[in-house]
Amino acid sequence: MRVTPSLLSADFTRLGEDIRIVEEAGADGLHLDVMDGHYVPNLTFGPTVIKAVRRATSLPLDAHLMIGNPTEMAPLYAEAGADAIAVHPETAPHLHRLLAHLSGLGVRTGLALNPLTPLEPLRDAIALADYAVVMSVNPGWSGQTYIRGSMRRVRRLRAIADEVHPGFGIVVDGGMNARRAPAARAAGADTLVSGSAVFGAADPGAVVRAMRAA
Ligand code: DX5
Ligand code: ZN
Repeated sequence: MRVTPSLLSADFTRLGEDIRIVEEAGADGLHLDVMDGHYVPNLTFGPTVIKAVRRATSLPLDAHLMIGNPTEMAPLYAEAGADAIAVHPETAPHLHRLLAHLSGLGVRTGLALNPLTPLEPLRDAIALADYAVVMSVNPGWSGQTYIRGSMRRVRRLRAIADEVHPGFGIVVDGGMNARRAPAARAAGADTLVSGSAVFGAADPGAVVRAMRAA
């Protein structure tokens, strides 16, 4: 299982050190939760911080944009150094244009799906994008309780993707830990995001290794 720790739960007074810890533990990338205080009430960081993270690591950077204007802003995240960018489809009225634009910039494109975002209407978007971020909490904060039934959605998404886009990536985001990793794997996910379970642990590296072992 690939593991991408979410920096949202890291210690921002020592971001470089926290990045190094998960890097040494074998993290497969970093998950960057961008929130704008509009699409979600919470506010996190923007391109400036991502540029700094880019200088601190060579790990792939996966930006998860929880913002109201990704059409305007997503290219700036690509420029800041994101290797992959996931947008919530309902925030992009011209989703095809945005995904095509980002692909043209050499970025992997993702669809971020809230707990009740209908999956079937996204078949054509799934065919086009590179991966989905299946939210197993409502976006906005780390440290929330996993929403039961989320793995059923992963399984349904896997079935759709196997029809229209074999090789489509499935990331699970929210309330993940080493204990839930095997179920996510069995449901067809290939990547787990983890914020609080990793950075809230006394030994973050051990949690990354345990999740990757699933
Ligand atoms: C929630 C974010 C998640 C969050 C995960 O809006 O998208 O990436 O940071 O944190 P945990 O693993 O603590 O649920
Ligand atoms: Zn996220």
